[in-house]
Amino acid sequence: MQPIYEGKAKRLWETEDPSTLRMEFKNDATAFNGEKKATFESKGRLNNAISTLIYEYLEKVGIPTHFVRQIDDINVEVKRVEILMVEVIVRNVSAGSFCKRTGMEEGLAFSKPIIEFSYKSDELGDPLINDDYIREMKLATPEDLAHLRESALKVNEILTEFFSEVGLMLVDFKLEFGRLQSDPSTIVLADEISPDGCRLWDAKTGEKMDKDRFRRDLGGVMEAYEDVLARIKNRLATESN
Ligand code: TMP
Repeated sequence: MQPIYEGKAKRLWETEDPSTLRMEFKNDATAFNGEKKATFESKGRLNNAISTLIYEYLEKVGIPTHFVRQIDDINVEVKRVEILMVEVIVRNVSAGSFCKRTGMEEGLAFSKPIIEFSYKSDELGDPLINDDYIREMKLATPEDLAHLRESALKVNEILTEFFSEVGLMLVDFKLEFGRLQSDPSTIVLADEISPDGCRLWDAKTGEKMDKDRFRRDLGGVMEAYEDVLARIKNRLATESN
């Protein structure tokens, strides 16, 4: 069998149900648009575990997503969607390409979250685009874009609070959305939410607990992901008591 799609960190497979797909988390890590590559033995399992808990939580608090269920330690079942070619990035604190682009130092808290869009194209290196580009490139209608912005801000509020309760600062993150194949007028949150696509800093020490450990050769990459998972599990265990 062949996957119907293979990305840098995931594969998508057909299932017996034509309305769903199996999303497999790979152990591969890439950075700088695939220029830097490595494999971590437990990365697929950790990202699946973290992303599953976050998606279940988001569904519970009313955010519509593609998530159906966890299948096993590296696979989840997701609704079939057509992914929008717009990546939505939310920033609460200066870091990464924001600092590179502006020359501002890392770690400055913004007065309000910054929303930014990039064109999902590995070939072009996911360039930054704005509302007018998105309209003319027909990546999303202005109404859809307003919906993406609103959803991203809502997810930011929910996850900022969620992570702060476990001593983590949600610095920034990237979201992807898709149109349900069964109902293309409905746009849901898709892809994954894990330390691969979020910046998470320890609230007390400022230590980086995300893929920047890999990007910047800081070591202890999987140890940080394990720690994030343990904190989330603790937080959810208290909730169900
Ligand atoms: P950036 O500062 O490099 O633009 O990244 C902002 C956030 O988006 C960061 O949390 C990492 C995430 N991200 C992805 O998930 N995929 C990507 O391809 C890029 C460039 C960033």
